[in-house]
Amino acid sequence: MTGIALRDASYAAGGKTILSGLSLHLAERRIGIVGRNGSGKTTLLRLIAGLVAPSTGSVQVDGIDPCTDRKAALSRLGILFQNPDHQILFPTVEEELAFGLRQQGLPQPRALDAARAALRAEGRAHWAAAPVSTLSGGQKHWLCLQAVLMMQPQTLLLDEPFAGLDLPTAARITRRLAGLAQRLVTISHDPAAVAGADRVIWLDAGRVAADGPPAQVLPAFAAEMARIGDSDADTDLAG
Ligand SMILES: Nc1ncnc2c1ncn2[C@@H]1O[C@H](COP(=O)(O)OP(=O)(O)OP(=O)(O)O)[C@@H](O)[C@H]1O
Ligand SMILES: [Mg+2]
Repeated sequence: MTGIALRDASYAAGGKTILSGLSLHLAERRIGIVGRNGSGKTTLLRLIAGLVAPSTGSVQVDGIDPCTDRKAALSRLGILFQNPDHQILFPTVEEELAFGLRQQGLPQPRALDAARAALRAEGRAHWAAAPVSTLSGGQKHWLCLQAVLMMQPQTLLLDEPFAGLDLPTAARITRRLAGLAQRLVTISHDPAAVAGADRVIWLDAGRVAADGPPAQVLPAFAAEMARIGDSDADTDLAG
């Protein structure tokens, strides 16, 4: 079966159930996942990416188990982590961008050439030799997104891809993503970031609260977020 298939998948950690009984078949090209902080969005992405195994049920990506068949999963999936510091491996911008291409078998000089060409195309040629440690948080996030895009995986899993990006950079990235033929799963707490998706899944407390076209799911999500915001939003954190 093509696409991402979860069959009654649950995930528990630290004695707590984080995702409960998720059954989803995600085959659309543009999929958005929304939900509050702590609703389980990142955990769902880690499950799809095979970084954690479901406690019960199963997860398959294009017919493979991403947790046991790591090699096949990594060649299919590109992952943007929410925290760039969990993603960046190399000291300089060009090395970070070249890494994925090296993994795909390109020799280092050609991978570095491709990295520099990508930076030139983005008007950031002068970043090539810059130490990653000198970049701001938003700039690191941009770098991680570029690194994922370099590899052109069949499916991209993006966890808050616009977090920390300034408006012009976010607009440019939005246009880039819109032009990609690949499947995109975009996680965001911001309804606007997934308004153009084919399908939006609203996660709440580790369960699917709504699943459907954005015009159906997002107004309900926004209304519920506004309702919670109008009450004392922090009172339920203790629960
Ligand atoms: N390994 C773990 N052990 C214990 N609890 C965990 C673990 N991983 C996640 N959690 C808990 O699971 C819940 C969901 O976390 P998750 O990171 O998936 O949420 P999220 O929707 O991505 O939130 P945010 O919008 O803040 O990024 C949180 O309550 C979190 O504390
Ligand atoms: Mg998260």
